Amino acid sequence: MIGVLFVCTGNICRSPTAEGVFRAMVEREGMGGAFRIDSAGTYDGHAGEPPSGPAVAIAKRRGYDLAALRARPVTVEDIVAFDHVLGMDRTHLAALRRLAPKGLTGKPRLFLDTAPHLGLREVADPWMGEAADYERALDLIEAGCAALLEQLRATSLTA
Ligand code: 4NP
Repeated sequence: MIGVLFVCTGNICRSPTAEGVFRAMVEREGMGGAFRIDSAGTYDGHAGEPPSGPAVAIAKRRGYDLAALRARPVTVEDIVAFDHVLGMDRTHLAALRRLAPKGLTGKPRLFLDTAPHLGLREVADPWMGEAADYERALDLIEAGCAALLEQLRATSLTA
């Protein structure tokens, strides 16, 4: 199994959206069994909460169901266990590298670095923003997840 962990701040907007989008893409391709997909936050203040209302509503309009997800903080064990640990912005990357055990500080990466054609490295925080901010985050997350799946299909999966 290929482990993919998406990480943002609160685990209530960006990373649960990425978890839901990536899971849907993988399942659509019939590859659900090949992946372990999860998300977590660098800040534990929303632990136990579902994704934010606008994140759930906007994802639902594009066919992604985030309602059952619950926020949790990222742990050092996550960094050990998951093959791909992907932060949504540079603050997450820095936090993940601080948390990582010696020898694994190079494992965390920026999510959008899997999609260099986008010309962007960060998914901006939409929390407390307008609907358009959530739409923009979802656009980037869909593009990033599609690129990630193509990359993993090419490098990690034997057909
Ligand atoms: P997320 O959005 O990291 O995409 O889940 C945020 C949620 C909560 C906070 C910041 C960002 N917060 O500061 O509580």
